[in-house]
Amino acid sequence: MQTLTVQTPSHAYPIHITSRENWGEAVRPFIKGKQVMIVSNDTVAPLYLEPLQTNLAQTHTVQTVILPDGEQYKNQAHIDRIYDALMDAHASRDVTLIALGGGVIGDMTGFASASFMRGVNFIQIPTTLLAQVDSSVGGKTGINHPKGKNMIGAFWQPQFVLCDMNTLKTLPRRELSAGMAEVIKYALIMDAGFLTWLEDNMDALMTLDETVIGEAVARCCQHKADVVAEDEREAGKRALLNFGHTFGHVIETHEGYGNWLHGEAVAVGMVQACQLSQVMGWITDADTQRVIRLLERADLPTKPPAIDASTARNLMMHDKKVKSGTLRLILLKALGEAVVTSDFDETKLLAVLGD
Ligand code: NAD
Ligand code: GLY
Repeated sequence: MQTLTVQTPSHAYPIHITSRENWGEAVRPFIKGKQVMIVSNDTVAPLYLEPLQTNLAQTHTVQTVILPDGEQYKNQAHIDRIYDALMDAHASRDVTLIALGGGVIGDMTGFASASFMRGVNFIQIPTTLLAQVDSSVGGKTGINHPKGKNMIGAFWQPQFVLCDMNTLKTLPRRELSAGMAEVIKYALIMDAGFLTWLEDNMDALMTLDETVIGEAVARCCQHKADVVAEDEREAGKRALLNFGHTFGHVIETHEGYGNWLHGEAVAVGMVQACQLSQVMGWITDADTQRVIRLLERADLPTKPPAIDASTARNLMMHDKKVKSGTLRLILLKALGEAVVTSDFDETKLLAVLGD
């Protein structure tokens, strides 16, 4: 087991990266008050809810909210289901919510926690690779608006994050690949050595070799913890974590939430960001091909669906990094070195989007 710490200006919390942990015992010290509300979905709950609920029920009043599974339910109507359950349970300010699931459940539970009674405690038990390396750490919570992804939300940090590598064994292979896109992202934006390590270990990672998957999750969480410690509210460096996301969100919004997995859209978005970095003269064609090869080894798509360039360009303006009407993108100055910039050639962007 490894424990890392996320230190924000207001709050510090641990991330445990482990296998075969008794989850009830692990989370109990981080529960405040006597009431617990576990939020999960109808895929994850049958796999993992019962032992956790039974264990915590020995010491706490435990309620559950089981949401339908899917990105298309990451919306206000389903946040209301969590509020309704909290109201029905007469939850008080010291209730603790536990997110048991992937990024969708984590983001929604976090947002419900941030907003219920102006903020209550919550714990993340991320059960997808994507949630373990990215969404459960750092306090971004929220839901989608029909016209844009993650448009409604709040920064709200958890008390504790418990990543159990064993949960990845039940994860569909397509979801494992989607999570691997975010793993590769860290290497591309800030750690060229990790990129080489991923190239050496991708086959073992995709078979969930216990040692390498734990190391990959720990390296990603450490990068994320460092970035969040420096820039919790995304005033600067944290924006780098959105590498590939502005392009990827276009695909997700255009194709309908849930049809492309977030990580798949990000994979294609990272290729497009590499292509733009390349035509800007910052990285080479060999660099872009290296990224494409690694994504392919993780069974990820590398080509976008057909979206005409001007539609894609308009959708990009919904991005949260747009400032005073100016689009800012995360591009690569080199593999392992990303920048946030509005200094790109518009015609070259349209050419990349049109490819
Ligand atoms: P997800 O939560 O939809 O989970 C993917 C699928 O795997 C779902 O069907 C889920 O039920 C299933 N699942 C989860 N754990 C499982 C397990 N152990 N075994 C079997 N099935 C399991 O998707 P995700 O990829 O985890 O997260 C994507 C979401 O995260 C998006 O909404 C995205 O916007 C958000 N996100 C947020 C942040 C952030 O910083 N808050 C960062 C990245 C992504
Ligand atoms: N996933 C991007 C961030 O947390 O900032």
